[in-house]
Amino acid sequence: METRNHVETIKQLQVRPDVVRGATRPTHSIIVMSGKGGVGKSTISANLAVSLSLNGYNVGILDADLTSPSVPRLLGLTGNIEVEENQLVPVSYSDKLKVLSTGFLVPSPDHAIIWRGGMKMGAIRQFINETKWGALDFLVVDLPPGTGDEPLSIVQELQPDGALIVTTPQEVALVSSRKSIDFARKVEVPIIGIVENMSGYTCPTCGTQVAIFKSGGGERSAKELDVPFIVRIPLDSTICESGDSGKPISENGATAPCASESSNLITQSVLRFYDAKEKVKTENEEVMR
Ligand SMILES: Nc1ncnc2c1ncn2[C@@H]1O[C@H](COP(=O)(O)OP(=O)(O)OP(=O)(O)O)[C@@H](O)[C@H]1O
Ligand SMILES: [Mg+2]
Repeated sequence: METRNHVETIKQLQVRPDVVRGATRPTHSIIVMSGKGGVGKSTISANLAVSLSLNGYNVGILDADLTSPSVPRLLGLTGNIEVEENQLVPVSYSDKLKVLSTGFLVPSPDHAIIWRGGMKMGAIRQFINETKWGALDFLVVDLPPGTGDEPLSIVQELQPDGALIVTTPQEVALVSSRKSIDFARKVEVPIIGIVENMSGYTCPTCGTQVAIFKSGGGERSAKELDVPFIVRIPLDSTICESGDSGKPISENGATAPCASESSNLITQSVLRFYDAKEKVKTENEEVMR
């Protein structure tokens, strides 16, 4: 196995125009998106990926937030991406979960990655087409906020078959999340559902409920736009703590029962979505026979 330092790997990512389409395509791919930053996409992506892997699936997580990657920290991972037979080798979280992130290409988390459009597109192409993912049941793609270079490149290269939209309940986030829904519809990626994160807070000492960013807006948007609503996740310090310490809630449910229940609901919704899709596919195949 050939190991290169991050500078060589980045250079290689930036200059290679040829795309070796040797990677095995995942059976299912999910993009996790939002219109606004900081609403919990990466937290939800990381927990979903871990949870699917704990359910016995072979899972990959692609951190497509190329300039501000956070998946390595959320999963408590460090490491380098290696290059083997001209393909990138993702870092293993477990034997069921592989992770690819630009966070593994830099010497420290404080190192700025300064890439413009073309470089990002080349990197995404390579992350998808020239990576030894192996046979994946699910590839979860954690996107940066908005509808810019990364989401568009991912859609072009991967043709994902489901989008999970994350929002917080206040109007400024909802407006942006409606744009994400519009984006998914325009590029014909079916929407799995909306998750309303940071929805209310229960004071641990007096039990009073406070709707810091309001509450219920994601659910209302889902109804208005005829999109499935999955779950409201409250503001919960254990979620923040688990992210900072790199110990995903999906793995340590007992420490955060409420957050863990929300995480399970998301996983179950994703599995139901793909089950339904498979059923339709099988029925169509039978009709064609
Ligand atoms: N329900 C929650 N309660 C408390 N903290 C949360 C909750 N959801 C996410 N967080 C915390 O909020 C911060 C932002 O979350 P995260 O990085 O997942 O958001 P993001 O949408 O991926 O952000 P970006 O747009 O920058 O990629 C993290 O510190 C995370 O631990
Ligand atoms: Mg993120």
